[in-house]
Amino acid sequence: MSEDKKIIVALDKPDVGSALELATSLDPDYCRVKVGKELFTSAGPTVVEELHKCGFEVFLDLKFHDIPNTVAGAIKVACELGVWMVDVHASGGERMMAAAREAIESSSGKSPLLVAVTVLTSMDQKEMHTTGLNGQVSVQVQLLAALASKAGCDGVVCSSLEASMLQHTQSSLLKVTPGIRLAGDDASDQRRVMTPVKAVEGGADYLVIGRSVTGAADPVATLKDISNDLGNVSLPVAG
Ligand code: C5P
Repeated sequence: MSEDKKIIVALDKPDVGSALELATSLDPDYCRVKVGKELFTSAGPTVVEELHKCGFEVFLDLKFHDIPNTVAGAIKVACELGVWMVDVHASGGERMMAAAREAIESSSGKSPLLVAVTVLTSMDQKEMHTTGLNGQVSVQVQLLAALASKAGCDGVVCSSLEASMLQHTQSSLLKVTPGIRLAGDDASDQRRVMTPVKAVEGGADYLVIGRSVTGAADPVATLKDISNDLGNVSLPVAG
């Protein structure tokens, strides 16, 4: 068993049936699972309850980005669902993230880890500039990570390229990294990508892996291979 389960498999499926078919082929001792917008829009809280029954810890990846009061309300409901991790967009601002933190603190349900999305891993610098942010991606990630830390978030979602930078500047924040690809995989819509081993060597605490596992000919074997590879990684020293 992988000692701290670094892998989060993205169950990006259109309905509860196909999500559970995939999940039940996986071992909750080896990974956590992520329920994102597609699956949650289709299946709602039921799928989270079913995954809990199967023994999985769930990252509810709905990337909340709204006014503080609305985000706080949504986070409160997520706490009642008993999920392991939730996320908000850091660009929603410090007050919004602080409202999410406060909702977790005042909830009588389970306290999920709160992570803030910095710059989506599907964006490169050129695309980020089209949104009016003219600096470097790494500088924007750094700025949003500092804001997330100030607001009381447990961690950030960033690419593995920035995880190594944050390992030094924001060592107490968890680094959750999507944009993971195995050597030779198609990056598809993702732009800032890295292999699992290189991501962990660089300082990623958790790897979100979707299509490289779910689209593999044998998802279970692929997940096991990645877990074994990660078992041999020597972890970076924080600071
Ligand atoms: O298939 P792939 O590995 O690219 O899937 C990545 C998953 O991580 C998707 O479910 C996507 O929504 C999610 N994600 C991301 N970038 C973020 C946050 C979450 O790609 N910043």
